Amino acid sequence: MSSPQTYADAVARFAPLQAATRSHRRHHGCNAYTFEDGAGLLAIARADRATTILELGTAIGYTACILSSATDQTHVDTIEGDPEHVALARNNIRDLGLDERVTVHTGDFFEVMAELNGPYDLAFFDGLGPTARLVEKLRNLLRPGGLLVCGNLAHAGSTERRSLAVEFERSERWQLAGSIEGGGTLEFRKIDPAASTPTT
Ligand SMILES: C[S@@+](CC[C@H](N)C(=O)[O-])C[C@H]1O[C@@H](n2cnc3c(N)ncnc32)[C@H](O)[C@@H]1O
Repeated sequence: MSSPQTYADAVARFAPLQAATRSHRRHHGCNAYTFEDGAGLLAIARADRATTILELGTAIGYTACILSSATDQTHVDTIEGDPEHVALARNNIRDLGLDERVTVHTGDFFEVMAELNGPYDLAFFDGLGPTARLVEKLRNLLRPGGLLVCGNLAHAGSTERRSLAVEFERSERWQLAGSIEGGGTLEFRKIDPAASTPTT
């Protein structure tokens, strides 16, 4: 088990990209709030040895780059709807030499997810506020035992928050696996009873 400092050191190479995201948001006046716990996110992805990762909410590439460094084989599909963010993300990812490890898909989350097959080891939601419908789609794209890392739960509308609370309490579907970003981002393990080995 590596120490928190190990992960902090590993994400330090992406710190300029995080700073660029903050600067971009100030000038663009958009909602590209950068994720505040890159080291925690990397620790989760590394602990699971995630090689196939889906991210919702690329902004200009910061967390996609971090996730791509989970293992030597990791590939990240990341989805972003703002064309200006997509162009910046692709440039940033190329400049870091990660363009073979990260694919930036342009479009709305649902439209792009409809074209992806998965299964993914890990899905990271970092859009503006999760919905029960989005979580259901992410669940379908995760492999049994895969991990959903769900950010911005506090930004979901009150009705969605209630629906999500009910969904995540379904122990036959999810197991709370931990939290990062000071508790603002929760991890849920996908339980799939249909995939468990039958006893004879
Ligand atoms: C919080 S930012 C992502 C920050 C990024 N993960 C990081 O840490 O730097 C959310 C991004 O999701 C994008 N977004 C929000 N809703 C979307 C949707 N329905 N479809 C596609 N992109 C969306 C926004 O344009 C924004 O760039």
